[in-house]
Amino acid sequence: MQFLKKYVTTHFAHEEKIQLELNYPGYEKHKMLHQEFYNKVLEMEQSHQGGFTTDRELIYISLYVRDWLYHHILLEDVQIGAYVNTRR
Ligand SMILES: [Fe+2]
Ligand SMILES: [Fe+2]
Repeated sequence: MQFLKKYVTTHFAHEEKIQLELNYPGYEKHKMLHQEFYNKVLEMEQSHQGGFTTDRELIYISLYVRDWLYHHILLEDVQIGAYVNTRR
């Protein structure tokens, strides 16, 4: 969880900075999606302060993170690239 928090904080901040520099029209929505995911990570961390008690919990978290990142990259991050291409 520590690694995930550090990684997404750095990655999201970098990505949002690029969007601002590009005047990306989806910036506000994209930033909100990042924030929602980060909040979910914090929530999962708080509810597992004592560690993961079952394999099921660990599997749920790893699948949630994997699916969120996968869909976010394919549905949202990809639109930043598409926007950049329209400006060329
Ligand atoms: Fe993103
Ligand atoms: Fe991203």
